[in-house]
Amino acid sequence: MDKLLIKGKKPLSGEIYASGAKNSALPILAASLLSDSPLTVGNLPHLNDVTTMLELLGSMGVDVLLSDDMEVRVDASTIKNLDARYELVKTMRASILVLGPLLAKYQKATVALPGGCAIGSRPVNLHIEAMRLMGADINIEDGYIRASVKGRLKGTKIIFEPVSVTATENVIMAATLAEGETVIENAAREPEVIDLANCLIGMGAKIKGAGTDTIVVEGVKSLKGTSFSVMPDRVEVGTYLTAVAMTGGKVKIKSAKPEYLSSVITKLESCGAEIESSEDWILIEMKKERPIATSLTTGPYPSFPTDMQAQFVSLNSIAKGNSTVTETVFENRFMHVQEIARMGGNITLKGNTAVIQGISKLKGAPVMATDLRASASLVLAGLVAEGSTTIDRIYHIDRGYERIEEKLKLLGADIERIS
Ligand code: UD1
Repeated sequence: MDKLLIKGKKPLSGEIYASGAKNSALPILAASLLSDSPLTVGNLPHLNDVTTMLELLGSMGVDVLLSDDMEVRVDASTIKNLDARYELVKTMRASILVLGPLLAKYQKATVALPGGCAIGSRPVNLHIEAMRLMGADINIEDGYIRASVKGRLKGTKIIFEPVSVTATENVIMAATLAEGETVIENAAREPEVIDLANCLIGMGAKIKGAGTDTIVVEGVKSLKGTSFSVMPDRVEVGTYLTAVAMTGGKVKIKSAKPEYLSSVITKLESCGAEIESSEDWILIEMKKERPIATSLTTGPYPSFPTDMQAQFVSLNSIAKGNSTVTETVFENRFMHVQEIARMGGNITLKGNTAVIQGISKLKGAPVMATDLRASASLVLAGLVAEGSTTIDRIYHIDRGYERIEEKLKLLGADIERIS
C-alpha cells in the first residue's frame, strides 16, 4: 500500500494551479443522467472519487469517453440499467447523487444505502424524504433504496433540516425534470451548488436562487447536453494556503476563486499570513516563524468549512497560543487529533471541540490517514515537523487531492510516494 514520506521544515515557495473541484465534479457527472444528448465536462480533477463516479455511470451502461486533458463526454442515452451497486457506493457516499437524476429521467432507481463512514453516521434520510415528497415510492430493502414514480416527479416545497449539500443537489437535479415548481428552503449555499445549477441551466433547466437559501426550480420536459468546466477546488486551495501559513514562504495559486474562500482567508490573515488576490489567483506570504493561534467553529457555507477543520487543527497545533476548534457539521470528525498527538501535538477533545495548546514544533512520526481531510492535516503536520513523517493509507488523500506530492514538490517540499 502506498505511503507518503515527508521530510519536514522546508518553507514552501513558487506557483501552482488549483485543480477542478471534486464536490462540483461529482454532482455534475451525475447530472449527465438527466440529458438526452452527451454532456461534456472539463477541468475534471484526476481523483479516485471522480473515477468511481465514472465507473458507476459506466456500470449502468452510460457511454463515458475520457480525453487526455481530463475532459469527459458522457452520453447517458445508452443507459441499460438503473442500479447503483453496493460495491461502488460503499467506496463513495456521493454515489447517492444518482438517485434524483435516475428517478426524474427514468422513473426508477435502485441505489445501495451508503452506510456509515469514518466521520459519522451520515444518514441519507433527507434525500429519501425529499424524493418521497416529490411523489416517489421508496422501499428500503436488503440494503438498497428501491425507488420508483408513476409518471413524472411532482414539484413541491422541501424544507431541509439540517442543511445538506448533496441532498440539495439531488433535489435540484430531480426537480429539473419534475412537473411544476419545486421550492427548496434552507438549501445549501455552497459554491458547488451554484456550479451544478449553472451546468444544469446550460442544459436547459430553469433554476433560480442557487447560492441563496431558497432555490426555485421550474421543471422542464427535457434537458440537452452542453459543455461545462468545473470550478476550482476551494478546499484544495485552502489546504495549500494553510500549508504555507504553517511552513512559511510565498506561494501563488493560479486558477483559484478567492471569493469562495473568504472565511478561510480571514482566518489565515488572523494567523499572521499576508494574502493578496485577484479574481482568479491568490498569493500568500508568511513571514512569521510560527502562525498565531486562531479559534474557529465550522458550519455550512459561508461559515468556516468542515472540510478545512482538520487542516486548522494541524496549524493550531504549532501556533503561538491556545485555541479551540469546534466541529458542528459532522459528529465524529476528529480522528486526526490522535495522529497529530503522535507527532507531539498537545490537543484535548472535549465533546465536539478540540482544545489546542500550541507548541513550538512537531516531530516526524509514522501516522495513519483515516479519512480524506484528516489525511491532508497529516501532510501539513509532516511538512512543518522536524524529521521524517510517514503517512500510511494515503488512498484517502487520492480521493480528493490531485497529485498532491507533485504539487508540493513544485513548491520545494521534500515529499515522496513510497510503497
Ligand atoms: C458534502 C461534501 C463534503 C462536506 C459536506 C459538508 C460532497 C460530495 N461532499 O457532503 O465534502 O464535508 O458536504 O460541507 O459535496 N445529514 C442528515 N441526513 C441526510 C443528509 C445529511 O442528517 O440525509 C446530516 C449529516 O449527517 C451532516 C449534515 O447533515 O451532519 C451535513 O451533511 P451534508 O451537507 O449532507 O454532507 P454531504 O452532502 O454528504
